[in-house]
Amino acid sequence: MTVEELKISDERVSTGIDGLDDLIEGGFPRGSLILLAGSPGSGKTIASAQYLYHGATKLKEKGIYVSFAERRETFFQNMERFGFDFEILESKGNFQFLDMMTCSEETIGSVINMILGEVSAMHAKRLVIDSFSAMAQAFKKKIDARIIVHLLEKMMRQTDCTTLMLVEIPTGTAAIGMGIEEFVADGIILFETVEEKIGIRKRAIIRKMRGTNHNMNYNNIIISANGISLMPEVT
Ligand SMILES: Nc1ncnc2c1ncn2[C@@H]1O[C@H](COP(=O)(O)OP(=O)(O)OP(=O)(O)O)[C@@H](O)[C@H]1O
Ligand SMILES: [Mg+2]
Repeated sequence: MTVEELKISDERVSTGIDGLDDLIEGGFPRGSLILLAGSPGSGKTIASAQYLYHGATKLKEKGIYVSFAERRETFFQNMERFGFDFEILESKGNFQFLDMMTCSEETIGSVINMILGEVSAMHAKRLVIDSFSAMAQAFKKKIDARIIVHLLEKMMRQTDCTTLMLVEIPTGTAAIGMGIEEFVADGIILFETVEEKIGIRKRAIIRKMRGTNHNMNYNNIIISANGISLMPEVT
């Protein structure tokens, strides 16, 4: 593999999340590995599903959702509420839901190969892994996770597949995941749930986006009948 092959493309991949593309010069760099890290219920699954749905319905970019965290039925049902009909997409061959809920430690290497095999067989341009945290629980040692992240990143860039890897941040924790994936990833978007006097509010911030002059402010996360959008915070 040459350095040239590993270079991130200048081309941008529209996220389908209203308000997000403008914060990152038009979208994710094609072929990049982006972490979407956040607290429970902050909107990671909805946002990543929207990213795949947008690609498959508007841009002819096939997508795969690899789930270590959510069951197929729950995912399809919850996403229908936002008008995302993944059943139709799947029947047309433009989407695939890979259920990895029963993945065991011994088979993690083959799981990675299987994911990459599906990406290349389907010519998928968008991949979501929900979540790295759930996947990493299958590894015994930290070093294994590092190898896997590096492998994923290189392979994805070669296949031109833009990957959104979800990372769970437990309530009350400041660190993002295991600390390895933060450095390897090309971009990090943080979804937070903030407690305020009158209740909770969800907000997002771009922590890192390589090769991009990105926005550095907090943006409100709005979840409505059409899915997720971001709105600048008014101060
Ligand atoms: N139909 C809806 N309308 C408005 N808000 C909704 C709707 N459905 C879910 N939500 C909000 O979105 C949250 C769930 O979002 P999502 O499943 O994407 O979170 P997540 O970050 O993936 O959480 P987890 O880490 O637990 O998987 C709910 O807790 C709720 O606040
Ligand atoms: Mg989720």
